[in-house]
Parts: sequence; C-alpha cells; structure tokens
Amino acid sequence: MRRKLVVGNWKMYGNLARNKALLEGVLSGVRELRNADYGVCVPYPYLAQAQSMLQGSNIAWGAQNVSQNEQGAFTGAVAAGMLVDFDCRYVIIGHSERRALFHESNDIAATKFDTAIKAGLTPIFCVGETLAERESGVTEQVVARQLEVILNHVGAQAVAKSVIAYEPVWAIGTGKTATPEQAQAVHAFIRQRVSQLDAVVAQDLRILYGGSMKPGNAAELLAQPDIDGGLIGGASLVAEEFVAICRAAQ
Ligand code: 13P
Repeated sequence: MRRKLVVGNWKMYGNLARNKALLEGVLSGVRELRNADYGVCVPYPYLAQAQSMLQGSNIAWGAQNVSQNEQGAFTGAVAAGMLVDFDCRYVIIGHSERRALFHESNDIAATKFDTAIKAGLTPIFCVGETLAERESGVTEQVVARQLEVILNHVGAQAVAKSVIAYEPVWAIGTGKTATPEQAQAVHAFIRQRVSQLDAVVAQDLRILYGGSMKPGNAAELLAQPDIDGGLIGGASLVAEEFVAICRAAQ
C-alpha cells in the first residue's frame, strides 16, 4: 500500500511573518494526522525558518530547485549539499515553470535529479503536457519523453528513491483541474512506463497530481488508484486549504 504524500510548493511567495503564521496553522491542523506524509517546499531564504519551525513535526521541508553542480563559480545557484545542511528532505525538479521560464531542458532536469539522489535528497520530478500538446493528442509522448531521461539516465534504484509529480501545465494556477479520469489515465501510464524498467519500483512509486488541487476536488482526485498525493501551489499558501487537502489524503 502506498502512503499518500501532500507537498506544498510555495513558489516565490511569502515573507518571515506570513510564513510563520502559515506554518503555525499547518502544524496545528496536521499534527494529529498519522496516515499520510506531508511536506512544504519553500524559497531558499526560508529554509532555516522551515527547519526551526518544523523539526520534530510530521511535516518535512525542502526546496523548489537545485543546481546540478556540486560547488563552484555558479552565481545565484544553490547546491544539493547546502539543502542537506538545512535538513531538507525534498527538492522539486523539472517544474514546468523552471522548464518554461528558466529554459531547463530534460537533460538538465535529469542531471539535477541524479545530483539530488546522490546527496540523499528525495527529488519530486515533475512532468506534464501543455494545453496545445493535450489538444493535439500527444500527452503520452510528451510525458514519456520527460520520464525517459530519468529512466534511462539514473536507473531503477534511483527512481525508487524519488517521487514523480504529474502536473498538466494547463491546470497550473489556472483553476482548471484535470478530471480524476484524465489524471488517473496519465498516472497509470507513468506507472506502466516505470514498470518497463522495474515492476516492483513502479508498484511502490508515489505519483502526485499537481494543478489547481483544492479542498473541493482533492478527495476525488486522491481516490484514484494511481494518484498517491498532491503537489499543491496556490492552496498551500492558505493554512486551512492546505490542511483540508492533507486531511483528504488520510
Ligand atoms: P497550483 O496548485 O497553484 O495550480 O500549482 C500547482 C503547482 O505548480 C505545484 O507545483
């Protein structure tokens, strides 16, 4: 039985005061929940705040990106070892915003994935199609291509230490959610592709859905057999909404 996982992706939102109130709200709402795993991926400057407020709780923390390089003259970049210094568990890799706005290729995402695994972090590797790709019927080809770089590059044992997130680009921040059936179909496809590499790894792999997941639609999405949790953007910035989704994952 795969344990559900709900992770907030705060993106570039927050400040010390707002984060404090948000984390206090989430901590008190999630404290009693025992049957799923929870996490928040915060902007780099707030990792220390997340660490000090969340350590010892049932909420893990992490970052939204990482450099593929170990160290060096890479102005503005943050290394995996630095995330480990702040006890991060998760790092989001290959988010569609990184791919589209920061020109991250499949190959860069695969290298980052490898770097994260080697540092002992759990990558949350994002895949998903644009609206134009869905409408032209190539969703599976696009997702397969995004997945293949890690399947070919890192092998089954590394994939076993990761989480995959299916985030249809057209559903991110738009209020348009994939229907449970649409999401389930792609999740099943992802699992089937991973099973070509290793059936046991595929069976245990957690595949999260992301894209306008809210308290009102979380339960039916999370009830799908291959949806093992959520990667939550907007709703993770409002304590009651994030907690309600965490409850739905119980
Ligand atoms: P929204 O929940 O705001 O649509 O964002 C989803 C997302 O991009 C999570 O990584």
